[in-house]
Amino acid sequence: MIKIWDVWVRLFHWSLVLAVGFLFISGETGAGFFDWHRLAGEIVLALVVFRLFWGIVGSSNARLLSLVVNPLRAVSHLRELAARKAPQERGHNAAGGWAVLVMLLLLFVQAITGMFIADDEEWVEGAFHGVLPSANTDFLYNIHHMNAGLLQLLVLIHVVMIAVYFLFAKQNLIRPMITGRIKWLSDREPPVVRFGSFITGLICFVAVFVAVAMAANWL
Ligand code: HEM
Ligand code: HEM
Repeated sequence: MIKIWDVWVRLFHWSLVLAVGFLFISGETGAGFFDWHRLAGEIVLALVVFRLFWGIVGSSNARLLSLVVNPLRAVSHLRELAARKAPQERGHNAAGGWAVLVMLLLLFVQAITGMFIADDEEWVEGAFHGVLPSANTDFLYNIHHMNAGLLQLLVLIHVVMIAVYFLFAKQNLIRPMITGRIKWLSDREPPVVRFGSFITGLICFVAVFVAVAMAANWL
């Protein structure tokens, strides 16, 4: 068994799943919307900003630059997957890395646009609602609406791909996202990963949450 995901990537991921899952449901059905949608969206903003910092100072397999690889490698990885020959990785694969970047970008756009808008009756107002002229606010409202659809599609593809790895490549990617460890089966040496320090993560986490709390008037 070797370590693959540090505790911060795992905490980030499963907190994100809970918060974004709730945001999709509350946004689409209205359940819990008035009480919690704004707060959950601000938590997602904090999580994403934290992940961007962790992508600079965190573990080497969480670095944002390590996710930017030649797109041709992503294509050849998907070909290997289709041929049921996808190798084990000690981080994101070449295609998954791009998906992670797109997902972070769309989540950031969703949370930021949310901060400038309000619902029709203005019962729920983002922290910066009213700062921009109403034409711009309407534009951001439309972006929030359209981007929500894009995000749902992306999450669907994300979950389907996790199932494809399980069925086609016999790789259970979920367990390591929970336990942080994988059973390394290949003959080749596992790639070296330099794990970031827990304390650095904690400092980033607290700093980002305090900054978002102040910007969003939690205190
Ligand atoms: C709202 C739903 C979800 C969102 C927004 C989301 C987002 C993400 C993000 C951003 C990452 C990259 C993690 C990082 O590098 O920090 C990731 C990875 C991952 N997610 Fe999700 N996720 C969602 C739901 C799920 C669900 C339901 C599952 C389980 C079925 C899942 C399983 C995984 C796994 C296994 C990885 C690691 C993939 C790999 O090994 O490269 N995700 N997800
Ligand atoms: C990443 C974080 C967020 C996600 C995933 C998200 C998701 C959604 C979804 C799915 C909808 C329904 C879109 C539609 O089909 O019309 C919605 C609507 C909305 N969201 Fe968010 N949201 C987020 C952040 C925020 C934040 C921070 C606020 C701030 C208050 C906010 C305020 C609103 C408002 C006002 C609506 C329109 C409700 C209506 O008039 O029907 N959202 N959001």
